[in-house]
Amino acid sequence: MSIIILGIESSCDDTSAAVIRDGYLLSNVVASQAVHESYGGVVPELASRAHQQNIVPVVYEALKRAGVKKEELSAIAFTRGPGLMGSLLVGVSFAKGLARSLGIPMIDVNHLSGHVLAHFVKTEGEETDQPQFPFLCLLVSGGNSQIVLVKAYNDMEILGQTIDDAAGEAIDKCSKVMGLGYPGGPIIDKLARQGNPKAYTFSKPHIPGLDYSFSGLKTSFLYSLREWLKDDPDFIEHHKYDLAASLENTIVEILMNKLLKATKQYNIKQVAVAGGVSANNGLRNAFRDYAERYGWKIYIPKFSYTTDNAAMIAIAGYFKYQHKEFCPMDAPAYSRVVLA
Ligand code: KG4
Repeated sequence: MSIIILGIESSCDDTSAAVIRDGYLLSNVVASQAVHESYGGVVPELASRAHQQNIVPVVYEALKRAGVKKEELSAIAFTRGPGLMGSLLVGVSFAKGLARSLGIPMIDVNHLSGHVLAHFVKTEGEETDQPQFPFLCLLVSGGNSQIVLVKAYNDMEILGQTIDDAAGEAIDKCSKVMGLGYPGGPIIDKLARQGNPKAYTFSKPHIPGLDYSFSGLKTSFLYSLREWLKDDPDFIEHHKYDLAASLENTIVEILMNKLLKATKQYNIKQVAVAGGVSANNGLRNAFRDYAERYGWKIYIPKFSYTTDNAAMIAIAGYFKYQHKEFCPMDAPAYSRVVLA
């Protein structure tokens, strides 16, 4: 009999539901929240309210597109954390209510593990090259920058992580001070394609081991910008392409240097990238370049699996379902946690 999993994601500002049958994706619906744009960042209270409005239509649409009746579901997988508490509660409560009414098990998924396991989502008619365990995954999102050793679907070790800002957070903050808009990642990416990545240099961190740091770069960027603006009030408008390209290039170099170090230290050449920042073209190109230079076998996700989505939650749930790893009805959401 088929295993059909409904995945639900509501950890930040995207309400998403996806249906996976026997590891193959049938639907993945994402409702993003435009309400935060004018604030230049996610407003938690507005996010949870928007999740409440979106959750029923998004789940309904995911089931409809999948051609699956709710009575056919085997289990419901949901993001239990980490994330914004109010946002998580909407998805967690909805999953609990639906699972109880259908009399089916619930599967809790760690959002970060979900990002890593997105590499295992299969689509009918499409050949997907999946990583073999163990592999390394560079997990880069708005809140995290980590190098993860993935030994199994349920055994992940963080080898290094940021000690302050995440890569995505640094990009978003620099974009904000340049007045370019929110979220900064896609905007910087677009501008960077037309700029010179070597036009400006910003300070790089000297952190031991495999940890990252991005707050020094952010400060160096802001300080330089302030000086340049004294001489030319329109400096940003005149140099935005080069500024974006140089900022992106610095961040990519910092990320790749530590990742290379990790591949050598652990003697692993299967390397994946995941999370919102993995949509970045400069980072994707660097991965291809390193693959050629160092003989890596690389795994770069489809754009639709880079930012928050429920397909990754459903596939993580599918792994757990096969090992009957269900969670109790009283499992609470958690806002902070390391990889489980
Ligand atoms: O994984 P994600 O959707 O949310 C979190 O769980 O944090 O990541 C969001 C982050 C934001 O910082 C956003 O600016 C960044 O991913 N991002 C990008 C790009 N698209 C999204 N950063 C660089 N280049 C992009 N194309």
